Amino acid sequence: MAAPTPLIAGNWKMNGLRASLAEARAIANGAAGSRARVAICPPNLLIHQMCEMLSGTEVLVGGQDAHWEMSGAFTGDVSAQMLADAGAKLVILGHSERRTGYRETDEIVARKTQAALAAGLEPIVCVGETLEERKAGHALAVVTGQVRGSLPADLAGKAFSVAYEPVWAIGTGLTPTTSEIEEMHRAIRATLSEMFGAASAAAPILYGGSVKPSNAREILHAAEVGGALVGGASLKAEDFLAIVRAV
Ligand code: 13P
Repeated sequence: MAAPTPLIAGNWKMNGLRASLAEARAIANGAAGSRARVAICPPNLLIHQMCEMLSGTEVLVGGQDAHWEMSGAFTGDVSAQMLADAGAKLVILGHSERRTGYRETDEIVARKTQAALAAGLEPIVCVGETLEERKAGHALAVVTGQVRGSLPADLAGKAFSVAYEPVWAIGTGLTPTTSEIEEMHRAIRATLSEMFGAASAAAPILYGGSVKPSNAREILHAAEVGGALVGGASLKAEDFLAIVRAV
């Protein structure tokens, strides 16, 4: 089975006004011809305009979350169908900021992933341990448990990725060692293979958490690292493009 095509996705989180669309334009210009697939996941209000602006370029646009229902009485929420209707092709699900801040469980993430697939979106499902869990020696068990609980059977044969984002590495400047990343990515790969069989080898396993131009090359060339989910460093085209070029 061929190695997955790498994916470098920028998670803008709750950052970006319409003026930031210029940054997306610069990313698209600089990413042309890249070896990786490149995606930007901006705040929902920018998705439609960004999709129109980037149509005809190689850069994909994604959401950062979606509800498990397609429509209904869910004040303030956005569905996968709405993201797809706005032009998004991917969606991040189960980010630790949603698991922690909005009490999203594995079961909720799995339902959201099913909704994303039903809407034709490619899910990026996030998993990752806290510092306490790592210190207690539970990181592998926690993360593989999240993979089992958050990825529904419907993913078999579909395009998706898993993003390993240690909670303690997000926005902190801290990163696991390369061998810790490789150990975790190998464990996730083995779990995917048990769950979905040989076809899951096409799903990239992304690393996320303080990826920046200075550490991207080492991280992206580690075993079983199939790309990156980038927060802070995706907000500036120059930094994000340096990461894209490190693939
Ligand atoms: P940082 O790259 O800012 O650490 O954020 C990582 C992340 O949470 C991406 O989803």
